[in-house]
This record gives sequence, structure tokens and C-alpha cells, in this order.
Amino acid sequence: MKKVLITGSNGFLGQKVVDLLAPNDNYEIVAISKSPNRNPNQGHYVFNQVDLLDREALNNFLSTHTFDVIVHTAAMTSVEACEADKVACQLINVDLVQVLATYCEKNQAQLVHLSTDFVFDGKKGTPYNEEDSANPQSEYGKSKYASEQVLQHSNCHFAILRTILVYGVNADPNRSNLVLWAKGKLSQNEPIKVVNDQWRMPTFVDDLARACQLAIERKAQGLFHISGAELMSIKEAVDKVADYWKLDSTLISEISAASIGQADNRPRQTGFDLNKSKNELGYVPTSFIESLAVIDRQFKAFGR
Ligand SMILES: NC(=O)c1ccc[n+]([C@@H]2O[C@H](COP(=O)([O-])OP(=O)(O)OC[C@H]3O[C@@H](n4cnc5c(N)ncnc54)[C@H](OP(=O)(O)O)[C@@H]3O)[C@@H](O)[C@H]2O)c1
Repeated sequence: MKKVLITGSNGFLGQKVVDLLAPNDNYEIVAISKSPNRNPNQGHYVFNQVDLLDREALNNFLSTHTFDVIVHTAAMTSVEACEADKVACQLINVDLVQVLATYCEKNQAQLVHLSTDFVFDGKKGTPYNEEDSANPQSEYGKSKYASEQVLQHSNCHFAILRTILVYGVNADPNRSNLVLWAKGKLSQNEPIKVVNDQWRMPTFVDDLARACQLAIERKAQGLFHISGAELMSIKEAVDKVADYWKLDSTLISEISAASIGQADNRPRQTGFDLNKSKNELGYVPTSFIESLAVIDRQFKAFGR
């Protein structure tokens, strides 16, 4: 049995990873987050409320456990928040990773770390592979790339999973994402404005949680690209949402990234070459349409 620490367990991905691994007898799960536990599923794992920036509290916590794996999902994930508070962004997204890497080095633990497509400038035109050079444009992207460098220069056993525009649904309704936002607004007959000049390969959160599990099971080491396999504009993704749930697509209007100040700090086009993750992790992405069907079933199961 592996003892696994999941940081940011209240977060979008964190909750999914807890829900996926906690019922599995191969894992003993300890979950930590800054706020009280918001995951309605509170079974088969232990939750601790820990502010990861409180170094004393973190050290006390880590000194009382010996983890085999840390899945580190906690981060400052808002591009705007990182621009507004660069100091906090550095502390959470970079310095904290150094602390966890040092722990993992000392305890021969594996660190599964999450990073982003925003390490790229979006100018390549074809899917990025793990060998492509980074050129982050935002404070968020720079901080996540710096966190990757911390691990690349450490002696810890790490797997970095870079991912793109994550969507899906949890039992906890607190955290929205592109699919839930579009479905929610259109279901209430509210008009929405959607960017038509940014392209992504959106990632189903269930696939990303599964990739974290695969990284643990395969004792993965190095950098991996994890996303969906279909490149689409944000507008095309929202059109598919409207189409799937038979919502009024005339409520959708198109805008440019520049018109909402996103042209400079978000890459124009990102998508990932998934060959390494497929071959080395056994990663299999769900198609976008199939994932909407899963989300529909999960919505009903969560009573939402
Ligand atoms: N979502 C995406 O589209 C996307 C895309 C690319 C990469 N990623 C990466 O994937 C990872 C997970 O993203 P996500 O969307 O699941 O993030 P999220 O929903 O924003 O969750 C992050 C969690 O981190 C926790 N956290 C932040 N500061 C903390 C602190 N000082 N101490 C303890 N916990 C703290 C928060 O906990 P509380 O809620 O308890 O305060 C929050 O729930 C991140 O590394 C992100 O950079 C995400």
C-alpha cells in the first residue's frame, strides 16, 4: 500500500484525485487544503487543513508522516491573481515546490507535480511535445515553468504533468470551468461572449486524475503532456456544449482575446503531442463528446 499526500484537495483536480484514489485499497490517502474540506465525499481518507505557506505548520505536518508519493495540485491558478500578486505567486507556485522536492529527496518519495500549457507562447502552430522550448508570457506561466526547473535541477523522483484548459464536474459545485459555465449560462437563457481566436486541446478532469494515478503506478519520471486529443477554439468548444445539451446557440456571440485583454498573457494556440504519455503512461484521452456524456451522467448522480 502506498501512502499518498494530495495537496490542494479542495481544488478542481484535487477533489477528483481524492475521489479516484481514496476508495482504492492500494492507497492510503491524506488530503490537505488551505480551507475546510469542501469535498462532499469525506470517506476513506484523512483530511488536514494546512496553509502550505505557513512553513512551520507545513514542516510539522510533513514531519509526522512518511509519504511514498505527493500529488501536488495546490497552486495559485488564476492568471490575473498571479499578475496582481507576483510575490504570492512565487511563494505558492515556485518556492513551495522546492520545499516538497526537498522532502521527497529525503524520503525517497515521488512528487507528481502539475504544470500548464501556459509555459509556451502559443506561436508554434502544431502540437507541442515535451522537447519544445518554453517561452511563458504571463507571471502564472513563468512561475509554473520555474517550478518545473526546480524539479529538473533536484534529485527528487518527479513526474511533471502539463495540462490544458481542464473541464468536468465534481460533487462540490464551488469551482466552475468552461463547460459548466457555458452549460449553466445557456441553460438559463443568458447570452454569453466567447473568444474565437484562442485554440486549445481541452482536458477532461477525470482523464487528468487518471493520469496522476498512472504516473504513480508506472513510477513515472520526467515531463509528460496530458490533454484531450482534439484541437478546437474556445468558441467551437462552447458550440459543442450547446449542441450536446440542445441549448440555444444564438445566445453565443464571438469576441477576440484582445477585446478582453487576453491577447498578451495567454497563448493563442496550444495543443499537446500525446505520444509520450500514451506510450510511457498508457494514457488514453476521452473524446470531447464522450466526456460530455460522462459529465451529464455525473451531474445526475450528484443530484445537480
Ligand atoms: N484548471 C486548469 O484549467 C488548469 C490548466 C493547466 C494547469 N493546471 C494546473 O493544475 C493544478 C490543479 O489546478 P486546479 O484547477 O485543480 O486548481 P484549483 O481548483 O484552483 O485548486 C487549487 C487548490 O490549491 C489550494 N491552495 C492554494 N493555495 C494554498 C495554500 N497556501 N495552502 C494550501 N492549499 C492551497 C486551494 O485550496 P482551498 O480551496 O482549500 O483554499 C485550491 O483549492 C494546478 O497546478 C494548475 O496550475 C490547471
